Parts: sequence; structure tokens; C-alpha cells
Amino acid sequence: MRQQVYMDNNATTAVHPEVLEAMLPFFRALFGNPSSVHWAGRAVKSVLEEARDRVATLVNCDPAEVVFTSCATESNNTAIKGVAAARRSRGNHIITTTVEHPAVTTPCLYLEHQGCRVTCLDVDSQGMLDLDALEAAITDQTILISAMYANNETGTIFPVGEIGEIAARHGVYFHCDAVQAVGKIPVDFKGENISLLSISGHKLYAPKGVGALIIRKGTKLYPLLHGGPQERNRRSGTENTAGIVGLGKACEIAAQTMRTEAERVRQLRDRLEEGILARVPDMRINGHPVSRLPNTSNLSFLNVESDSLLFNLDLAGIAASSGSACSSGALKTSHVLKAMGVAAGTSVGNIRFSLGLDNREEDVDHVLEVLPGIVRRLRESPKV
Ligand SMILES: Cc1ncc(COP(=O)(O)O)c(C=O)c1O
Repeated sequence: MRQQVYMDNNATTAVHPEVLEAMLPFFRALFGNPSSVHWAGRAVKSVLEEARDRVATLVNCDPAEVVFTSCATESNNTAIKGVAAARRSRGNHIITTTVEHPAVTTPCLYLEHQGCRVTCLDVDSQGMLDLDALEAAITDQTILISAMYANNETGTIFPVGEIGEIAARHGVYFHCDAVQAVGKIPVDFKGENISLLSISGHKLYAPKGVGALIIRKGTKLYPLLHGGPQERNRRSGTENTAGIVGLGKACEIAAQTMRTEAERVRQLRDRLEEGILARVPDMRINGHPVSRLPNTSNLSFLNVESDSLLFNLDLAGIAASSGSACSSGALKTSHVLKAMGVAAGTSVGNIRFSLGLDNREEDVDHVLEVLPGIVRRLRESPKV
């Protein structure tokens, strides 16, 4: 049988078997509505609070600061639009970066149409943010900085602690889209002076359809959804109990295994990169050489197209990506690589391998076995 290799864990992860196990009772036996005061509701309510504790432990915040949502897109929208609405009397200026996920850039664009002023900060060729430029961009109208923890395409990790320190010094809220960091590297909500932090379940072995927004106590923010008083009036709607239990379990597992798992995956990723560098000429590694997620490898190959590369890898059973999940298939140049000044288009093919819990040395070896031949063939084939 053809070997199947999944190296697209930044797009989504498989649900961890223990997460699935923890969730199953909440579809039948423990079906109650956590807002109900009877036995069926109470049984679920206490487990919800346990899940809240587990999320809080992983990112170092108070459990009362955890608000469960349906995904990180909802968390980002709530944070950005909610702060803009609640702090209107203070100012209307938002600072973000050119390499954010569309779940941040699009709400910012929406607010720009609503009369806000948005400053988009550039990054350097390694995808790194200039902290002096960040501080210089702050005015007396600035209400929010939205900067990601780690980039989904390149893995570059921003200096989040320093960003938080600058934001706090100027009395500006700091929203951090930490979707790609939580569960992979330590994230310290309190210690890094973050006001609002977005988490997505399906990037850390919990299911799709659940996320969280951590909201620092005292943060002024209007909810996105209006309805019942769930989640301390921060997010209306009956809670996705099974999903939340799954997210809690995934956070518990991550808190226990993250450090050893990060090291294991880093070794696999480095073996992959060193192997490709040794076998394939005219290629380079994108992103920061040191401040980078341990599982992510973004590579550029001269004289091949991303789509042809991905198609041929897929034929060999290898699932990789040309960037974020939404952009592959759409033949779109990555806005992240463009911001970094990395060449793209027909002359350079960019692909991302993102490793995870299920990857083993054999997976890396399979990629090393087939990728050099694919690149060679594509380079030799006549261009139309
Ligand atoms: C950095 C980042 N932010 C936000 C999202 C959106 O997450 P969700 O699918 O939970 O809405 C993603 C998903 O790829 C992401 O990588």
C-alpha cells in the first residue's frame, strides 16, 4: 500500500485518541445543558469548569478569563471588533502586521471601512517585527495592537513579551492570535502582558468547532453575539460541551508533553530540512533561523511551481501545503512571503511542511526519498 504522510498540521490536526475518548460521553449520557439547574445540567457544568481550568493552566491565566468560542476566527473577530466598539470614546487606531492570518486582517479591514484607522507594520526578510517601528506607530488614538504569536506559514515567533510590555506601557490593549503557538511552545498570558489571546481547538488535537478567547480581567470589550448570559455575558449561545471537554483534554495533554514533543518534532523537522538541503540544489528555508516553531518548515525551490510540487507530493501520498489552508488551491501568492520579500510565482515554488504528533522518522525518509526526484523532473519538464 502507498505510504501516506500527513505533514500539514498547521492546517489542522487529527483528534488525539484520549481527547476523543473524553468527549464521547457528552453526546449521549452527559447531554445536559450546562445552564440547566437540574442534575443533567449540573453534571455537565462541573466538567465545563474543569476544562476551563485546563485551558487556563496551559496558557497561565485565571480560569475566569477563559471564554469558549466556536473557533479562532470567532475569537479574533470578538477581540478586534469588540475592543474597537467598546473603546470608541478613547480612540480609533489599531496596529497590526502584514503577516497576520485573514481572521485578523479581515476584521481590521472591516473596521477600516467603519471609520477606524489601521496601521499594518512590515516585517523583515525573516518575518520578524521591528519593535521600534511598533512603538513609533502608537499614537494617543491607539486602542489595540493585534499581533500573532507564531506565523502559520513560516513558523516565525514574534517577541510577544516585548510587544506586551510596549502595549502595557502605552495603555494599549494587546490582542495575540496564538493559534499556532498554543500546545507547541510555552505561552504565558499573564507574564507576557497579553490582554486578549485567541486559541483554536483543531490546531492542538482537539476537534474543529471549538476555540477560546482569553480576556484579561477588566478588559473593555463588547460581545460579538448577543443572546443568553453564557460565558459571563461574553459569548452567548449554548456551549459546545463535547468540544470544550475535548479542548480541555488537549490542553491537559499539551501541558504534560509539550516540551518533550517539541524537541522530538524539532529533530524530525531539522532532519527533513538538512536532508532536503543536501539533496536538492537551489532551494532555501524561509522564516527566522532561531525564533521559529519547532514543527514548521517553509521552503522555496527555484524553477518549480508550488502547485505542481504539491500535486506530485500528493500523488506520492504526502500532504503538505503552499501556505495557509485557505490559500492553497486558490493559486494565490502568499501575503506572508510577499511581506518578507520572498520571490514567488512561476519561478519559485514555496511549500510548507508542518509536522505533528503522528509523524515518525519513516515519514521524513519518505519525503526525502521522493521530493528530490519530483523537483528534478519538474525543473526538466518544458515550461508552457
Ligand atoms: C494563525 C491563525 N489564526 C487563525 C486561524 C483560524 O482558526 P480557526 O480555523 O479556528 O478559525 C488559523 C487557522 O489556520 C491560523 O493559523
